[in-house]
Amino acid sequence: MRHLMSPMDFSTEELDQLLNLANDIEKNPSKYAHACAGKKLATCFYEPSTRTRLSFEAAMLNLGGSVLGFSSADSSSASKGESVSDTIRVISCYADICAMRHPKEGAPLVASLHSRIPVINAGDGGHQHPTQTLTDLLTVHSLKGRLSDLTIGLCGDLKFGRTVHSLINALIRYPGIRFVLISPEELKVPSYIREEVLEKNQIPYEEIIRLEDAMEKLDILYTTRVQRERFFNEEDYVRMKDFYILDKAKMELAPKDMLVLHPLPRVNEISVEIDDDPRAVYFKQAQYGVYVRMALILTLLEIEV
Ligand code: CP
Repeated sequence: MRHLMSPMDFSTEELDQLLNLANDIEKNPSKYAHACAGKKLATCFYEPSTRTRLSFEAAMLNLGGSVLGFSSADSSSASKGESVSDTIRVISCYADICAMRHPKEGAPLVASLHSRIPVINAGDGGHQHPTQTLTDLLTVHSLKGRLSDLTIGLCGDLKFGRTVHSLINALIRYPGIRFVLISPEELKVPSYIREEVLEKNQIPYEEIIRLEDAMEKLDILYTTRVQRERFFNEEDYVRMKDFYILDKAKMELAPKDMLVLHPLPRVNEISVEIDDDPRAVYFKQAQYGVYVRMALILTLLEIEV
């Protein structure tokens, strides 16, 4: 039995297979419409979500399976003090696979150690968000045609942004990847990622503060939200929240084929005035999230179609 805690849990070959399967699902949805008949997905979300939870549910329904679960700690017995390890032992009696989001780093890993069913990390605190990374890889691969030889700008909250941490870990395995890390001083990428991931693997990167200085050299701009829920005080959040706003003027500095990705939700960091720009692909990205989660469910349940 396999779980998914980090994008590194899959080899590059396995990732390629998963992305190819997702592309086939996109092209031939009817072929997969009953692949999970009789199977149940539990979504155990201790933290708010729109995309991840609902795209997991849509994925399982598209595969002909069923879904059950809870969408907040308050509506589960966690509010009475139940541990994650006890909860997953119980969920193992009710479902065939579980997607879990938790505000504490490592909670889905603890669940996986006590589970009789595959557990998928659907986001743990400021640590990892592997299924967002699968979504991001599928988006780039489908729309750019490659995952190698790319200059990727990561912009915003690079300190607490779990999507950014997971994406860096996944992309460094492809040749010719360069990063431009764009953040205010206080929200720089954590030193363990800079030293243990980027420098250890000799991945070229630069750290800059002004988004305008990066635009012309990027193939991909991956923008993130400054996350109010990760700040210890409101004053720091208010100071940082509108540090970056991607607007038409900044988009004019970018190459004609640069893609703008965002895991969403956005607040102010991307102006709605660029939503119609063909380079703005963040809503397509949300759609790719369904295909890749369908592929992931099939892979972890070892169902071949
Ligand atoms: N991208 C993402 O994780 O969105 P949700 O928080 O809405 O799931």
